[in-house]
Amino acid sequence: MTTAEKLGQLNQMAGGRQIALNSRINEAEYDRVRAGGVGSYLHVAGAEFLAELQRVAVEESRLGIPLLFAMDVVHGYRTMFPVPLGIAATFDPADAELAARVAAVEATSAGLHWTFAPMIDIARDARWGRIVEGAGEEPFFVSAMARAQVRGYQGTDLSHSDTILATAKHFGAYGAGAGGRDYDSADISERTLYEVYLPPFWAAADEGAGSFMVAFNDIGGVPTTANRALLNDLLRGSWDYQGLVVSDWNSVLELINHGVVETRAEAGALALLASVDMEMTSGIYAADMAEAVEASPEIQVAVDASVLRVLMAKERLGLFDAPLAYNDPAREAAVMLSPEHRAAARQVAERSMVLLRNDTGLLPLADAPGRVALIGALADDARSMIGSWKAQGQPEDVTTLLATLQERLGDNLVYEPGAGTRGEADPEAIARAVRAAESADLVILVTGEDYNLSGEARSRSDIALPAPQQELARAILATGKPVVTVLMTGRPLDLEPLDADDATILVAWFPGTETGPAIANVLFGDVSPGGRLPASFPRRTGQAPYFMGHYPTGRPADPDLSKDSARYMDIPITPAYAFGHGLSYASFEYSGLNQSTDELVQGGTITISADITNTSGIDADEVVQLYVRDPVAQVARPVQEMRGFSRVTIPAGETRRVAFTLLPEQFAYFAPSGRFEADAGRIDFRIGSSSDDIRLTGSFDLPASVIADAPGAALVTRVEIEGE
Ligand code: BGC
Repeated sequence: MTTAEKLGQLNQMAGGRQIALNSRINEAEYDRVRAGGVGSYLHVAGAEFLAELQRVAVEESRLGIPLLFAMDVVHGYRTMFPVPLGIAATFDPADAELAARVAAVEATSAGLHWTFAPMIDIARDARWGRIVEGAGEEPFFVSAMARAQVRGYQGTDLSHSDTILATAKHFGAYGAGAGGRDYDSADISERTLYEVYLPPFWAAADEGAGSFMVAFNDIGGVPTTANRALLNDLLRGSWDYQGLVVSDWNSVLELINHGVVETRAEAGALALLASVDMEMTSGIYAADMAEAVEASPEIQVAVDASVLRVLMAKERLGLFDAPLAYNDPAREAAVMLSPEHRAAARQVAERSMVLLRNDTGLLPLADAPGRVALIGALADDARSMIGSWKAQGQPEDVTTLLATLQERLGDNLVYEPGAGTRGEADPEAIARAVRAAESADLVILVTGEDYNLSGEARSRSDIALPAPQQELARAILATGKPVVTVLMTGRPLDLEPLDADDATILVAWFPGTETGPAIANVLFGDVSPGGRLPASFPRRTGQAPYFMGHYPTGRPADPDLSKDSARYMDIPITPAYAFGHGLSYASFEYSGLNQSTDELVQGGTITISADITNTSGIDADEVVQLYVRDPVAQVARPVQEMRGFSRVTIPAGETRRVAFTLLPEQFAYFAPSGRFEADAGRIDFRIGSSSDDIRLTGSFDLPASVIADAPGAALVTRVEIEGE
């Protein structure tokens, strides 16, 4: 290969824009392909369209190397699933895997080989708009969800034409941006990096994720796109990661903005030497690096290694043997939005809903709940229902909540939008909504954020409900009618004024194509809600970042204000809703705690199990959660860390035994030695229905310290369910 051909392989161009796919593929691009000047395109799609582009690459370029076609297929391709935070709220890796699998089947049928998903950035600051794209705040939990998504996208064999290369993104500490601002610096300790932000990436690599994307931001002044310690020493070195590393959009060029280089060529050199294999969109590798490569043996070695990794990705996908395997228009037509896919989307959406409170038992609704007023513009906002990163999702495909309730309730339904999410509320429209509420026996208030208030570059300084929604909510609540609030959101919100006495609140996130049926099925009790919060809901913006796994401090937060402790004076010490919280229409009792041993020795395991009984008269799911704490260690350990969870369906009156099996390495943390160590001593564990609803507790000992090669949070806890 010539230097230009090598650099061409490392060049990923935008073939279009997210909202105008393929729009940049013109004659000049075909010529670039013929000249071997490009290795991949993103924001392209279509089996037939891409077949022609691929044909030109394979038949008309000198080396005939196939192209990689990429897109952000994040929570569905055409059939839209809930946004990722909603998928996470299912608290079931099987749901995350299913959503990824369906997305892969549809995306690959449209000629795509590579998705920029899953996003597995830990998100602990609800101001950060991209919290919607991930699985929340907890390292063990996000790691488990990361593994499931990688499996769903990539299947067992990437060369099958319905599997897609996954991207673990955004490697580093993208979620730790200061003040919850997107792209902003992460100034975090090494311990936080290793124990909080990196475990999901370790898990994704371990699961075989074919590619990684680097974060836009810097850690302590070192932009990740040029972070040799993180990329070369850790990822390529210690972790031995052989997959493809791609920059983020223009992030090589942005090294100039970061202030670590002055010229394009210097930016390219830094990124290449940090083993960023493929450059997304800034075109520096292909346009500016030829001279530097010829002049520097060190850069040449880096380029050769990167080219090999790009070619290996193409090889893993089977493209050298069958470059057009992903380009079957008949398959594309057959799979898109199939009844089977819609059913899967509905199921995951139903399972994503979190019942925050149901104080008066208003839910589930009776089959004939009388006259119902449906209030809120979001109830009919099909675009919001499919969330950000909609790929090829179409608002027209969505069954809205309004449509479903019209069908279900007929003349007993009255609808008033009341207010939108932007600008000033219209007093007339609110008055109409109030009249509708007053005329009804029951109000369903659909409120929250629209889809465009979370997502990339959508950070907010205030996580309150948008002003017009607050106004609407106040007016509706003042009617004194029974109100069921359905919250659509991509982030934890400050729930003022909704979170009042006697409230009923269901978090629906942005549920996807099957929004209407999924919400209605939960409201009417066709299914009992079983979702849980993957991120704590702080009471107020000022509490952000808020997360469960904080350190205890020397003066742990105390509700007693007369004591000087680590808290705010003006609000309680707890979040509004804790990580793992979510109610059910059923009730569950925990009993029969058992542990297989009191001593967890090196090479051994401990199995902790409990009986969960559905004491109600309806079949429902319970999410059994296992938390641990190391009370005394060389450094302070978080007050609570997750080490197991299992969503289990338990028919009315029946019992299931849930057993978690753990290794000593799962208690390893980033010790002062710079290694992962678990100290000898006691470990406390707690089993419950939420991080703040603990039902059973116990402890065991590690008789000797253990050294591990991975963060404890990244490892898998085996779960067995007996009695099914
Ligand atoms: C985002 C990435 C995304 C890329 C390509 C960037 O702005 O940060 O997550 O994969 O664009 O669309």
